Amino acid sequence: MSVSLFSQKDNGTVKMERFVEDLLSKMTLDDKIGQMNQLNLEGINDTLLTKIKAGQIGSMLNITDPKEINLVQETAVKDSRLGIPLIIGRDIIHGFKTIFPIPLGQAASFNPQIVEDGARVAATEARERGIHWTFAPMLDISRDARWGRIAESLGEDTYLAGKLGAAVVKGFQGNDLSSDNSLAACVKHFVGYGASEGGRDYNSTNIPERLMRNVYLPPFREAIEAGAVTLMTSFNDNDGIPSSGNSFLLKDILRKEWQFDGFVVSDWASMSEMLSHGYAVDRKDVAMLAANAGIDMEMVSETYVDYLKELVTEKKVSLADIDNYVRNILKVKYRLGLFDNPYVDTSKVSTAYSERHLQTARRAAVESAILLKNEDVLPLHVNQKIAIIGPMADAKHDQMGTWVFDGDKNYTVTPLKALQRGYKNVSFIYEPILNYSRDKNKTFFEKAKKAVGEADVAVVFLGEESILSGEAHSLSNINLIGVQSELLQVVKSCGKPVVLVVMAGRPLTIERDLPYADAVLYNFHPGTMGGPAIWDLLFGKENPSGKLPVTFVREVGQIPMYYNHNNTGRPAQWIPTLDEIPTEAQQTSLGNTSFYLDSGDKPLFPFGYGLSYSKFKYSGLQLSSDKIKQGETLMVKATVKNVSNVDGDEVVQLYVRDLVGSIARPVKELKGFTKIHLKAGESKQVEFQLTPEELAFYGRDLQKKAEAGDFKLWVGPNSAEGLEGGFSLQ
Ligand code: NOJ
Repeated sequence: MSVSLFSQKDNGTVKMERFVEDLLSKMTLDDKIGQMNQLNLEGINDTLLTKIKAGQIGSMLNITDPKEINLVQETAVKDSRLGIPLIIGRDIIHGFKTIFPIPLGQAASFNPQIVEDGARVAATEARERGIHWTFAPMLDISRDARWGRIAESLGEDTYLAGKLGAAVVKGFQGNDLSSDNSLAACVKHFVGYGASEGGRDYNSTNIPERLMRNVYLPPFREAIEAGAVTLMTSFNDNDGIPSSGNSFLLKDILRKEWQFDGFVVSDWASMSEMLSHGYAVDRKDVAMLAANAGIDMEMVSETYVDYLKELVTEKKVSLADIDNYVRNILKVKYRLGLFDNPYVDTSKVSTAYSERHLQTARRAAVESAILLKNEDVLPLHVNQKIAIIGPMADAKHDQMGTWVFDGDKNYTVTPLKALQRGYKNVSFIYEPILNYSRDKNKTFFEKAKKAVGEADVAVVFLGEESILSGEAHSLSNINLIGVQSELLQVVKSCGKPVVLVVMAGRPLTIERDLPYADAVLYNFHPGTMGGPAIWDLLFGKENPSGKLPVTFVREVGQIPMYYNHNNTGRPAQWIPTLDEIPTEAQQTSLGNTSFYLDSGDKPLFPFGYGLSYSKFKYSGLQLSSDKIKQGETLMVKATVKNVSNVDGDEVVQLYVRDLVGSIARPVKELKGFTKIHLKAGESKQVEFQLTPEELAFYGRDLQKKAEAGDFKLWVGPNSAEGLEGGFSLQ
C-alpha cells in the first residue's frame, strides 16, 4: 500500500483522530503489537527487512545514515501491509553535529532561551538527516555528583529543571512537529533515577510519594505541559517497584492526573530487566507487567512481539489498552508528518556546523561557564605571555562531553586552537605535561616549571575526560583525577599568577586545589565551541555570568548535600574544626547539632553561585503586601545595580521559605530567576510574581495546595545570600 493513501496533512486534532481511528480499524492484533516494538539497528540485513515487511517494527533507534533510513522507511511504507512509517529515534542529548555544553553546563546559564536555541539547532541538524525523535531532555533531579549521569541533568533543583526542561522541549519540537527542523522530545527517565543509591548507576531508589511529588515529578509535568509528546521510563526500582512495571506512576499519575496523551517508551531493555530485578518470572510476565503498567512501546527487548498476542488471548492484557497504546504512537507519527512524507531528502545541503549553529553553541558555552574564584587575575591582558598547561587545553574529543555519537571531534575548537585562531597576537607557550586527565606520568613536570617561569601567567586546563561521566560512569572519588592536582601545585610553586580552567562532567571536589589557583573558571564539558568561549571570558571580551545549577561539595562524603534541604530539629550552630575539639571532651561538648566534624554543614560553593567581572549591589526589596490571600499573587521587586565599571549579566534569584507546614519544609526553595544585563553603573528594578501555584506543595494529606502561614523570602545572587523579606499567606 502506498503512503499517499494516508496523505492528509492537517494538524487539527479531529482530523488526526479520525485518521488514526480509521487506520486502527484496519489493523490486526499483530499489526498493533508491531507498532509497539522498537529495535536497535544491528545492521541492514534480511532479518530486519523481513520484520519490517511483516509489520513487526514500529520504531528504530540508532539508524542515522539517511540512505539507510530511506531504505527502511520505503520497506515499511511500500512493503508492509498497512504501510505505516517508522519513527526513527536517536540520543541527541546536547547537540547532533554541533555539540553544545553538556546539559548540566547549559543549566548553569540559568537562561531558558540558551537551552531552547541549542535544542533548536540540534533538531535542525538531526531532522534533516532523517531522525524524528530524540531521547531528551533528561529531567532527573541530581543531588549526587558521583552519579555519572549528573552530566546529562539540568541540576539539583526542581524549579530550574522544570523551566529549562520546558524550554528544551520547545526548542526540539518548535510549533509544528512536522516541520523539517523539529524533533519529538522524550522526557526521561520517569522517575527518580537521579536518586540512585550511592550514585551507583541503575541502582535502587527509595523516594516516598510525597517527596516524589514535591521534588522529582514536577519537572516532568512542566515539560509535558510544554508539549513533550513522549516519555521514557527509568531503570531504577523505587521502593522495590521497577519503573517499567509501575502502573501508579504511568497510569494513575501520568495518564489520569496529568492527562498525558503522548506515548511512553521503556528504556533500553528496562522491561526485560524486570527479570534481574526479581520482579518478573519470565519474559511473558515482563510483557504482561509492562503492558498493564502502561508502556506503549518497548525498547529493544522484544517481549511484546513475543508474548502480547498470547496475553491478550488469555485476557491477561486488555485489547482496549493495546488500542490506546497504538493510538498514542500513531498520533505522534501523524503529528510528525510521517504519513505525508516519511523520507529524508538526501540532496538537501546539511546545515551541520553552519556558522550560525557554531555561534549559537559558542554563546551557550559563554553563558555556561562559572567563575568560582578571581583574586584580581582575570581578565587577562592580551599582552601577557601565557603558559598554557594541562591535558584539557587541546582535548578535542573530551571537550565535547558525554553522549556524543554524531559530533565530529575535528570540528571542536579547543582552547589551544582558539587562541591560535582568535588571538593571534597573544604570545604563549603550550606544554600539556599530561596527555589525558588520568595520565599519571610526572616525567614532564619540570617542563611545566620552565614554561611557567618564562611566562607572565599560567592558565592550567584540568578536568575529566568525557568518558569519566555519563551513563554507567559513576565515581566514588570526585577529586581531580590522577596527578592533576600535583601538576597544579607545581605550577603554583613557580610564583606566577595561576588561572585554573576546569572542564568536567560533574562538580568535582576542588577544595584542595583552590589554594593553588588565583582564579577558577569552571566549565562543564563545553562542546564544540568551548575554546573560543573560554578565551573570550578569560580576556574579558565576555563577562562570566553562569551560576551553579548544583551544589559543589567540599568532600565526597558530604553527598548528598543540596541547598533546599529541610531544617532538621537540630540545625548546625557552632562548628569547631577537628583540632578545636578537646581530647576526652564530653559527649555533648559540641552542642549536638547536625554537621560533619571534619567538613561542617556548608558546601564549598552553594547552588546559584557564580562571580562576574562586574560587581552587583542588591537593594530596595519591596513586596506588594505583607499579607496575601489564597489565590492572590505577590509582587516582589528589588533593585540591582552594577557598581563596577564593567558591563555584565546577573542572574537574579528569588527564594522562599515556608516557615511552618503540615510537613517540614525546605530551608529555601528557588521560585524565580531572571538574567539581566547591566551596563557599568546601571541599575534595574527586577520584578517577580510569586503565584499561589509556586507556594503550593503536597502536604500531609498529599493534596497540592499553598498552606496559610508565614513565609520568608530572599532576592539575591545565589542560594546563600540575598535581601530578606517576609509575608504571610492567609
Ligand atoms: C539507555 C539510556 O538510559 C537512555 O537514556 C537512552 O536514551 C537509551 N539507552 C537509548 O540509547
